Amino acid sequence: MKREFLTTGDGSVTIHLPEWDEQYHSKHGAIAEAKHVFIQTGLHYFFSETERNQISILEIGFGTGLNALLTQQEALKNAWQIDYTGVEAYPISAAEVEQLNYTSELQITSKLLTKMHTVAWEEKVQLSPFFHLRKRKQFFSEISEENTYNLIYFDAFGARVQPELWTEAVFLRMYAALKQGGVLVTYAAKGSVRRAMQAVGFKVERLPGPPGKREMLRATKS
Ligand SMILES: C[S@@+](CC[C@H](N)C(=O)[O-])C[C@H]1O[C@@H](n2cnc3c(N)ncnc32)[C@H](O)[C@@H]1O
Repeated sequence: MKREFLTTGDGSVTIHLPEWDEQYHSKHGAIAEAKHVFIQTGLHYFFSETERNQISILEIGFGTGLNALLTQQEALKNAWQIDYTGVEAYPISAAEVEQLNYTSELQITSKLLTKMHTVAWEEKVQLSPFFHLRKRKQFFSEISEENTYNLIYFDAFGARVQPELWTEAVFLRMYAALKQGGVLVTYAAKGSVRRAMQAVGFKVERLPGPPGKREMLRATKS
């Protein structure tokens, strides 16, 4: 599918899919959305609720690597030991990575994002003292782990274009993949999505959304 680049409201770039009229991130701000939904409402929330300093994260849709990059920064800042697994069936190319401006927007070296995209698939690689990355090139439907992750960043394309990814069957898979007390966060807030999560056993909270969105969802396996 053809991919184009567009600059979002906070100056950070995202990928636009003209065929679907869909973006990898919010048009109101790619970095702002990622920080709000995944870093603040997911990662920081998880550590605020536990005494531990270790976490295992599953990302649904590694995409540009923005969520992984921001998570690695938090690992360093807070001395959190993070094991990060990113699942992606359609990786972006090296030329496309070059067009992303996340490292300049965040005023950090570009080396880490490049490395995240060039490390081997399927291998667990240490990228910094507190951060291990394992990228898995597979379809979400192939995720079959149980009781493995503390936190899921559910960052699939929207239900408008991929409704099959927002179903009870998929959330059942996510529920199984989480450890007891594990948390899933997503930018989505649709009633049908919330009900699908509740139907498989999640406790679901509606929380303030990122810029341009009233609400988002956080689901807990309690
Ligand atoms: C909204 S984007 C992810 C954005 C990403 N988290 C980021 O920060 O750039 C959704 C991602 O899911 C991937 N994807 C779509 N359908 C998939 C499937 N069935 N299995 C695995 N990956 C899929 C897309 O290629 C895309 O990278």
